[in-house]
Formats: sequence, structure tokens, C-alpha cells
Amino acid sequence: MPQYGAIIAGTGSHVPEKRLTNDDLSRMVDTNDEWIVQRTGIKERRIAANGESTATLAAAAARKALAAAEMAPEDLDLVVCGTISGEMIFPSTACFVAAALGLNSTPAFDVSAACSGFIYTLETAANFIKAGRYENVLAIGAETLSRITDYTDRGSCILFGDGAGAVVLRRGEPTRGLVYSGLHADGHGWEMLCCKPGSRHPISESLISERDQFMKIRGREVYKFAVQRFEELIEDALRKCELTTDDVKLIVPHQVNQRIIDSAMEKLGLGADKAYVNIDKYGNTSAASIPIALDEAVRAGRIAPGDTIILVAFGAGLTWANAVIRM
Ligand code: UT7
Repeated sequence: MPQYGAIIAGTGSHVPEKRLTNDDLSRMVDTNDEWIVQRTGIKERRIAANGESTATLAAAAARKALAAAEMAPEDLDLVVCGTISGEMIFPSTACFVAAALGLNSTPAFDVSAACSGFIYTLETAANFIKAGRYENVLAIGAETLSRITDYTDRGSCILFGDGAGAVVLRRGEPTRGLVYSGLHADGHGWEMLCCKPGSRHPISESLISERDQFMKIRGREVYKFAVQRFEELIEDALRKCELTTDDVKLIVPHQVNQRIIDSAMEKLGLGADKAYVNIDKYGNTSAASIPIALDEAVRAGRIAPGDTIILVAFGAGLTWANAVIRM
């Protein structure tokens, strides 16, 4: 057991005011509220306004997490941000967030693992604490997916939304906080979910004419992958931590699709209320989905100090990850 634990000292989240409902989408593409609710559970998502961006949402979530932890930005030793819709190609979104918090020498960097991004970020942040390197670390998941969503593609535009969540980790006893985490990736599956602009496909007229500046998804394939991984990740977390499902207060999954979550919970023999779901309000916010859900669950009293929770996520890469937290 490590000498130190990385304990959740505070959580925070922030979403834009602007709502995009299923009815709004039905005026943009050939879809309807009934189809979207039945197939995904999503009723609306939040969309960043002009002037809002990944870093502004992230900084707002970070301020709330710091307030909950009763800490000032100056108490932070490191800022890590999980995102795939960062402020710019570079600098990192974490640098913008640190600057927005008034910091001018605290280290800051991003983690890119798509929908698994928050768990990758949490584990990275926690390891700096467990190794004895830092005491207080800010771990963020933030996205403005609306900026890379193709609102002419009904297969993807109904799914995604914007938002940010943050967690302040602090050094504490080793039996609490992030007690287990498993990270996985298989780059062979990159084409199932991707957004092409980059060194392989620099932005060009032909890229834009193919609408390849936007995310592309193969929904059916991701669906099957997510159901399978969801179950495996929960079983792995229980086995590795010698827990039964009765020991687990709440599962906070990546908000991928209500049907995926329901089907996995059923296969695991767990009641639907054991999973925290808010996809109806925000859609899929990739790296932001778990920290937003976690913050809501904490503030709603669904999780209290001493409770054990499991996080699971899966997404582009392909990547998948789990985490067990003793609050
Ligand atoms: O976090 C990782 C990223 N998340 C994902 O990649 C999402 C994972 N996948 C999913 O959530 C689901 O696969 C979707 C919600 C994307 C699609 O649901 P589905 O039950 O897998 O539908 P489908 O793609 O098999 O399509 C069924 C039908 C098709 O019509 P035909 O061929 O049966 O006539 C589609 O053309 O539904 C049609 N369809 C739509 N109809 C109305 C596809 N999108 C829509 C739409 N509205 N928005």
C-alpha cells in the first residue's frame, strides 16, 4: 500500500446556460424526440455560447471544486485537464485554466483519452500525490464537443453536449480516495470514433469539403464495445478490490447512452438506481461526463464520506478505464 492516498477534497461542475432540445434538433436534421429518447435517453444538451470555450467551462468547474475543498488556487501544486476538444491545438487547456485561476508557475498539462479521459486524468493526478511529489492536485474533465459536432449528421449530432467537471485531490490516508484504477487502450480501433484534423490530415479544403473537421462515429460498433467493456470493468473493479456489489454505494458511468447503461446494469444483476445517470440533461460530454455526474451525486447526497464508488468509461482510442474511490 502506498504511503499516501489521493483523497477527493472537493468536486465542482459547470455547464453552459444554452439548451439544445430534441425538438430543436428535429428542425436541423431528420430526427425526432421520440427516436432520440428511446435510443439514447437524451432529452437535451448544453451548448457553449459565443465567448464560452473548454477553458472557461473548466475554470468555472475548478472554482467550484476549490470552494468545496475550501482551498485557494494557490494551494494547488498541479493542474491536469482531460479533454479532446481543447482550447487550441496548443497550448494545453490546463495552461489556460491555470492562468484563469490566477496561477503563473503551477505546472499544467492535458490528458487525451476521449470519453475515458477523466479516469486517465484522475489516475495521473493521484499518482503525483501517491508518489509523494505533490499535495494538492486539480483534475478536470472539460469539453465543448458542439464545436466539433457535425449538425448535418443525425447519427452523431444528437449525442453530444458541452460541460466541465473538476475534482480537487489532496494528500491523505492511503485507505481513502482513489484506491484502484485500471487504464486500457487499443489504437487498432481508432476509426470507430475519431476527429481527423492533425498531422496525418492537416486542415485543407478537401478535408473541410468531406466535413472531416467534425467527429465521426460508428455508433453501432461503439454501442457493442461499450456494453461489453462496461460489464468487464465493473467485474474487474469488484474482483481487484475484493468488493461485493453490496459494498458499492454508487456506480458513476460515462454517460454514453441510457440503453447501454441499463443493459449493462441488467446483465450485472444490478438495479438501475445503483448507477448515477444524468444523460437526459446533458447528453454525452466525453471527458466531462463522469466529473459532472460525480459532482451532482455528491451535492445530491447520493455519495457521502466513507462510501465506495466505481467509475467506468469507454470511448475513442479505443480506450476504457475503471476506478474505485473510497470517499
Ligand atoms: O462515448 C462514446 C461515443 N458514443 C457513441 O459512439 C454512441 C454509441 N452508440 C449509440 O449510442 C447508438 O448506436 C446510437 C444512438 C448512435 C444509434 O442507435 P442505434 O440503436 O444503434 O441505431 P442504428 O445506428 O442501428 O440505426 C437504426 C436506424 C437506422 O435506420 P434504418 O437503417 O434502420 O432504416 C438509422 O438510419 O435509425 C436511423 N437513425 C435515426 N433515426 C432518427 C440513426 N440516427 C437517427 C436519428 N433519428 N438521429
